[in-house]
Formats: sequence, C-alpha cells, structure tokens
Amino acid sequence: MSNVEVMSQHDDAPEIRAQTRESAMADAGLEQGGQGIRGLLLSQLSAVVRRRHPDLAKVLNGTMSIRQLDEVLWLDGLQAIAAWFQLLAIAEEYTATSRRRAVERKGSADAVLGSFSNVIGQVMADGSSGDEIRRVLGGLRVGPTMTAHPTETKRITVLEIHRRIYRTLTEAEEQRWSPREREELIDRLRGEIELLWLTGELRLEKPSVDQEVAWGLHFFKEILFETVPKLGDVLTAAMRRHAPENATPVSPNLRFATWIGGDRDGNPFVTAELTRDSLKEYRRTALESYIGPLEKLMVELSVSTNVCTIPETFRDALNSAMDLSGRRDTIATRNPNEPFRQFICALLARLRATLADETGDPRDAGATPYRSPAEMRGEIQALNQALVEIGAIAVAERLVRPLLWQLEIFGFHTAALDIRQNATIVNKVVAELLNLGASEGDRVEKGRPGWGERLREALRSPAKPDLQGHELSEDALELVNLFKVIRDAKIKDNRAIGAFILSMTESVEDMVACHLLARWGGITAGDDPSAATTLAIVPLFETIDDLRAAPDILDEMISIPAIRRSLRECGDRQEVMLGYSDSNKDGGFFTSNWELSKAQRTLHDVGVKRRVKVSFFHGRGGSVSRGGAPTGRAIAAQPPETVDGALRVTEQGEVVSAKFANKGTALHNLEILTASVLAHTLKSPHEKELKENAEFNEAMEALSGLSQTAYADLIKSEGFIDYFNQSSPVEELGLLNIGSRPARRFGGSPKDLSELRAIPWVFAWSQNRHLMTGWYGIGTAFDSFVKVRGEDGMKILKSMFRNSRLFRLIVDEVEKQHYQCDLEIATDYARLVERQSVREEIFGKIRAEYELTRKMLIDVTGTEDLSERFPVHKRQIDRVAPQLKGVHDLQVELLSRVRDNAKIREADPRMLDALLLSIHCTSAGLGWTG
Ligand code: PGA
Repeated sequence: MSNVEVMSQHDDAPEIRAQTRESAMADAGLEQGGQGIRGLLLSQLSAVVRRRHPDLAKVLNGTMSIRQLDEVLWLDGLQAIAAWFQLLAIAEEYTATSRRRAVERKGSADAVLGSFSNVIGQVMADGSSGDEIRRVLGGLRVGPTMTAHPTETKRITVLEIHRRIYRTLTEAEEQRWSPREREELIDRLRGEIELLWLTGELRLEKPSVDQEVAWGLHFFKEILFETVPKLGDVLTAAMRRHAPENATPVSPNLRFATWIGGDRDGNPFVTAELTRDSLKEYRRTALESYIGPLEKLMVELSVSTNVCTIPETFRDALNSAMDLSGRRDTIATRNPNEPFRQFICALLARLRATLADETGDPRDAGATPYRSPAEMRGEIQALNQALVEIGAIAVAERLVRPLLWQLEIFGFHTAALDIRQNATIVNKVVAELLNLGASEGDRVEKGRPGWGERLREALRSPAKPDLQGHELSEDALELVNLFKVIRDAKIKDNRAIGAFILSMTESVEDMVACHLLARWGGITAGDDPSAATTLAIVPLFETIDDLRAAPDILDEMISIPAIRRSLRECGDRQEVMLGYSDSNKDGGFFTSNWELSKAQRTLHDVGVKRRVKVSFFHGRGGSVSRGGAPTGRAIAAQPPETVDGALRVTEQGEVVSAKFANKGTALHNLEILTASVLAHTLKSPHEKELKENAEFNEAMEALSGLSQTAYADLIKSEGFIDYFNQSSPVEELGLLNIGSRPARRFGGSPKDLSELRAIPWVFAWSQNRHLMTGWYGIGTAFDSFVKVRGEDGMKILKSMFRNSRLFRLIVDEVEKQHYQCDLEIATDYARLVERQSVREEIFGKIRAEYELTRKMLIDVTGTEDLSERFPVHKRQIDRVAPQLKGVHDLQVELLSRVRDNAKIREADPRMLDALLLSIHCTSAGLGWTG
C-alpha cells in the first residue's frame, strides 16, 4: 500500500499491526538473513543502477543527495529514486496484505478491522438480527466510481511492471521452493526492477480520452471482474459464521460507475462521438469478459446423463437455448450425453453473436444475440438450478455462481457511464435553444430577469425547440448530440448510463435547465412530449456558498411537478454529489469538512420531509485536501442515517492503481467500502459519537467561521497569487501530460485562481511541501476559540476530540498533513518568489499558522510529538525523507533554471525532463500527486 490517503487505510489499528508484523514478515519467507522485503528490493535496484554509476547507489540509500551528483547523472538519479519510491509502495502493499492474512490465521476474519466478518459480528452483538442484516445487504447501493482525474503519473506499462513485481514477491513468499528455484525468482525480480528503471516515466504526449478509457478498463479486465465474485464469497462466509440461519449466498451488490469518456466538464476532448465510442468499449469489454468463464465451464462441466438424471425443466431450457443458438445439429452431435456442455455451447454461440453485433465482425447468422444481460442471466440461473437439483452444489457454487454475480454487477455495460457537464455550459445552451427565432426583446439568459420563469414555463410545456434551419453553436450542437447518444444508449441497455452530474450547480434554475435539456432530448418514459425525464440528474455542490444553499435548492427543486415526476421515474430517489476539493479550495480544510457534514444532514432532512430518498455521491479521495481519508473512518463519520445503504464515491487517478492494481488489495478495499456502508446503516442511528450535540455544533460553527476567515485572509493577501505561481511548479504541471484535460476551466489565466482546477491547486502545494491546503486555518481557529472562551474552550475542544467522530477525523488528518508539511523545504521554494515583500508577508503568515497549528494540535490531542499517534504514516514519511529532500533541492534549482527562459518550452530539454521527473519523484515519495 502506498502512503497515499486512499480512503482505505486503517491507520487506527496499531494494535493489530504490532502483534502481527513480525510474524507476517517471517511468514513471507523473505526475511532471510535479516533482509526484509524492502532490503531485498533495495539491494536488487542498487545492483541494477550501480552498473551505470556507483554514486547512484549512494543516492538510493540516502547517503548522498541527488543534488551532489554530476549534472549529467541527474536524470538517472531521479529515475532511480522514482523507481525506489515505487518499490517501497509495492512493499507496503505486499506487507499490508501479508499482515491481514496473518491476523486472519491467528484469530479469524473477525480480527481484521472493518472486514465483513468484523462488522457483521459487531452489529449482531449490538442487537441486529441476521434477517435485518440480510435485508440491508439486499438493498445496498454502493458505487465505486472511477474517474480519469489527472493525478496518475504512472503509465499502464509501468503499472504492469509493478504487478509483475508484486506477483513475483507473492510467489517468493511460498515456502516450497528449493534454493535454486528461489534464486531464479530473485533473478526474475531483478529483471523486472531493471525494466522499471529503464522504462521512461515521462509521457511524451497527453493521453487521449480513448487511452484513458483503456486505462480504466484495464482494472476491470485484469482485476475487478474476477475479484467481485470473491467479494461475494467473503460476504457469504461472514454471514455463515455469524448468522448461519441466513447462510444462502449473498451478492456483494456493487454498482460500479465510471466518468471516463463521459466527463466533459472542462475537457473539450470528450465529445458526443467519443462518449458513443466509449460506451461501445465498455459494452464490448463486458461481453468479452464472459467468453473465458463460459469456455472454462464448457471444458469442466462434464456431467453425463449416464451418471445422473437431468431435471425436466432444464431440458426445456436446453431446447430453447439450442434453438436460439442456431446450431442445434452441431451441438447435439458433439456432446450427446453431456447436456450441460451442450447448453454452454449454445450460450457461447449467442454471446459471440451479441459481441459480433457490437464489433461489426461477421457472425453466425443463425444465432440470436442476447437482448439483455437479464436474458443471459436467466439461462445461467437455469443451469445453476439444475446443478443444485442433481446435487452438484459445489460445482454450482464454484463455477456458476461467480458468473451469476458478474452478470448481475457488470451486466453488458461493465460500469455505468456518468455524464458530467457544468451548469455554465448547460445554461448557455438552454438559453440559445430557447432564444431560437426570438426577437431581441424576448431573449433570455441566466442572470437576466425572467430567466427562472421562462425555464419553468418551458418545463411545463410539451413543446420542444425546433432546430430546423438554425445554425447552432458548437456547445449547443455537442449537447444536442450528447443527449441523442444518451437516449440511444439507454434504449439499448438502461444500465449503460449512470447519472448526469451537473457540476457547479448553484441554483434551482440550473437543475431546471438540465431537466429541460434531457426532456427535449427525448430521455423520457414513453413518447409523451411533456413526460418527465427518466435520466437521473445529480447536482454537484462544490463551493461553500453552494453547499449552504443546497438544501433550499433541493427543497424547491422537488416542489416542481415535472422534477418530482422525474424523481418518481427514478424510484423516488435523488442523488446529490458533494465536492470535497473545490469546497476545500474555496473555504479551507475545516470549513469544507463542516459544511459538507451540515449539508448532508439538512439535505437528508429535506428528503425525509419530501418523501424522497436522498443519497450522497462523495467526490473525494486522493490527498487529504481532496477528501482522502481512511475509508472506514470517513464513512463512519458521516452524519447519522444519511448513508442508509447507499453511497457513491469517486475512485481517481493514482488511487485507482493504489487500490485496484492487485487482486488481494482490491478485494480488501471493496470489502472495507461495502462493510463500512453496512456498518453505518445499522449502527449510526444509536452511536453516541454521531449524536446531535448542540454544544458541539455551536463550537464547530464558530471554529469553521474562524478558520475560514484565516484562510481567506491568506488567499486574498496582496501578492498571494504571485506567491503561489512562483513558489510552486503549478504552471510546469501542465507539461506532465498526465491527463487529457486542461488545468483550467474556460481557459482561465494564471492570474485568476477561480478557474484553476482543484487538482493542480493541491498538487502544486504538495510539491512545494507547504501542504497548506490540508491544515491552514486550524491553528488560528482553535487558538481564537480558546482565547474567547478561556478554559472552557479548551475543555470543549478536548471533549470533541474524544466524543465527536467528525472532529476527531479532522484533527487526525490535519495532524498527519502537518507532519508531512516541511517548512525547511518550503523555504527553499519560497526563495523563488521574486518580490521580497510578498515572499516575507505570505511565507511569514504560513510559518506563523504552522507553528500555531502545531501548538494547538499538541494541546488538544495531548500528545508530545506530532504524528506519534500514527506510526505507520510517520514511518512512511521518514523513510523517504533523505532522498526526497535531495529531489526538492534539485527541483528548486531546475525551476529557476527553466524559468530563466522566456518560454518554458524553449528551455534545455534535459533540464525540462529532469524537472518533470522531479515532480514524478516527489509524487511517488509523498504517495500522491495532489
Ligand atoms: P474536478 O475534480 O476538478 O474534476 O471536479 C476535483 C478533484 O477530484 O479533486
């Protein structure tokens, strides 16, 4: 596991780590001769780099700074350090998995904190019944949603090398090898490490959106298709253990979604055509994924009629499948006494025909393609039933059930594609369409009087704009075409499309405009032109003001009859998306966390009042400043009853590879996510740490106000934008080519912070080690609070630290971020700021806040030293500190050299490459980009 905050770490379980670390290492069989996994990896990498130059090995082991290397070796040195940081992350992931296994071996699955077994055991002990748990499990809607956010600096080639290294380590763990065989494995490991070191880190070109789609699909193909049935097995085993009367298999019920190919907010490369192509890719991948399992079944299902009697109902299913396969004769003669093989053969013919229709390849003319995954699932269900009836239970469980679960979860769509666009574009296009043919005086647009009334009137009316004879703007054409794509896709497979995420929603009119577009686009039930849309339109609230306004927006929105009807079409549900990074960028860490929590509570209440189930989609993950936090704790801190079985969360960039690049880790992460939702649903109504507490709420409100003022005072300081641009590599990040989309929406300029995406904002503050996005404002808030309220103030803070789960989480994450901030390194970056007065003023504020935050954290938590409560985190940071310090020194030097040129792109290409590699290295060392 890398040290990225991936919403999955359980850094709050030191007792388990302490007990098991030693045994896990011994079990790993790699501890030989005092050489742990890290030692083994370091020795192999050193052997490889030493061949190029002996100093490189010194840089690797931290005895020499990269800055001291001869200039011609800088690129090599950076490449070596980056490889080392990646190997460290692999070693972390590997030991985390070994530790979990060791815990399970010693105790049981119950001992793994946050596992299904652990959670189910707990809720049963608290009084939940097996039936109740089963009911909640049956209704779960847990949606990991993959995004192509530009935060992943590793290419697929590099990820594949990582996977092979991980697998070689796993193989080496086995005890059965002879010394010679073990030697061979170590040689293989060295070979892969050599490749890692020789494989260029830098992308020469920006990835295209198709490449991003392929990147996302890589994880489904390689890991998730196979892992999901295992998750069902783990869940079933946990139920069998704790509620044996409820022991029938339980589906893990996940609902994967993706934004890749659908998120066009600020990304001009995601066009309607591209979305259509992406949908095809997702469908093709799902269809292809069933070929292998069916072929395997065909080989293995050799049950013969000579040995058992096949149930009559299955004979009917077989007959019909043979007819629809168009290959009755061939199938009947090929395996005459093996009806199950014949059945699978027929299914395969139909599946291949379905796939050929997708790819345009020639197909068997007689085979009838599947109309839906449900149809294929029905057939597999019939097979399962027949196997159970003849007593082949183990065969059914081992070979057929996984396929049933895969079909249920991945269908023919792999993951539901969400569409995202921002409200500015949606409003602009709706205005253009409403104004078609209107006289100047009748024209409407957002911001002008009459806009809201006109939208509502249009939503009531069955009329649609007549586009004939009008030349539309590019944005309008795109959106009109996009809705055609959505409509076609939904007709073909309703599950292929997820939600329409409306980013930057700030008013009820934004939502009305989007509903209008969807209705005009014909995404309605039936042909009635005034029917409500069946498309789930999800507002994304991202700024502090918008979060505050969200409950009223929701309330008003639901009162609009056409929208209420649309919600009915969607099962009386309204999903609301919450933006963690933008609210953090807008109001600072504390305020963002508090406003997010408050908004959830109030939005939930509005839902209860209006009889609409409001569920939340959390746009969070990655670094702490973008909402990253240990999954279990982050979910456990949600306000009571606001999860209720449904939760979506973004899985983004490097987090995707940190969580889903290896099967064991993926299984664990999915388990923690699902089990946490289950736990919150059953426990939150009566947990004391989540209980409404007027005194705490009032204190949080006060702290939030104080923190927001301190943060605003910093970012509004004169010269702040220059300070940010000059002291960080924010402009140079764009040259990294890690994502298809630009760093700014609407082509904003570096002088304007508002259009800068939150990712480069956090990314840049991480690179220069200020990391202020994860802690700034908290010191002042706590200090002023205590100054005003005296001793009682400190008492309240301490009491909240003990008794409020949200406050505790905020303090813990701030403490970790604060430890990772390094003011000595930050000072070097501050030297890049040209105007001394600006440098002194801004850096002075940051330093003062840093010191105050440190003091207040120590006072509130009662610890002597920051981060001592998080030994794993501390170790991860300390371990890379010597090499990372050298990389920062070098980056500062390179920034000043490269910036000496009038145009950055004209700088010495080797210096530029070294600069970009230093950015990679820093991200790999910190464990995240931003
Ligand atoms: P966004 O993502 O810019 O796509 O809204 C922000 C984030 O993930 O931090």
